[in-house]
Amino acid sequence: MSYIIDDFTEKYFCQVKQIIHSNFSNPWKDKDILFKSSNSIKKVALELNSCKVLGYIDGYTVLDEADLLLIVVRKEYQNKGIGSSLLRYFINQVKAKNINKIFLEVSEKNEPAIRMYKKFGFEIYGKRDNYYGNGENAILMRLKLE
Ligand SMILES: CC(C)(COP(=O)(O)OP(=O)(O)OC[C@H]1O[C@@H](n2cnc3c(N)ncnc32)[C@H](O)[C@@H]1OP(=O)(O)O)[C@@H](O)C(=O)NCCC(=O)NCCS
Repeated sequence: MSYIIDDFTEKYFCQVKQIIHSNFSNPWKDKDILFKSSNSIKKVALELNSCKVLGYIDGYTVLDEADLLLIVVRKEYQNKGIGSSLLRYFINQVKAKNINKIFLEVSEKNEPAIRMYKKFGFEIYGKRDNYYGNGENAILMRLKLE
């Protein structure tokens, strides 16, 4: 399977929405997917043959920090390295802006995501109780880049 990382644009909206809705019980609203500022980093992983969106990453930089808001891979394509490719791309974009800290929140129940973040060097620095409003706690993670 060959894929590229491309900028998110409105032409990918429906596919990205569908991927988000099939992965999260409390999915982003349409306006959150479409919101873009000059500091946004919004990318899709795109299968070359079909132009099918396989994954999506969304975050932003502010001053000397970056925030990773969302990363998601189409269910049937998970655990094949696409999430890692998107995250690596995001980290390189952040580095290119001379920013050396990335923050994120993740559900403490989300083992695959936590494992991926740890693999990239993210460390846990805190916890927010009932962050998702359903009794589920969030783990706060950060990556310090060299
Ligand atoms: C988290 C997610 C983005 C990872 O993307 P992916 O393409 O499946 O991940 P990769 O194939 O690149 O794997 C990267 C690492 O993640 C971990 N991982 C991925 N899938 C896993 C699974 N099912 N169980 C345990 N660990 C898993 C592993 O550490 C893996 O590294 P390894 O293969 O060397 O062990 C994907 O599982 C997903 O979309 N999950 C639903 C949405 C979500 O929870 N997003 C994160 C919160 S915003």
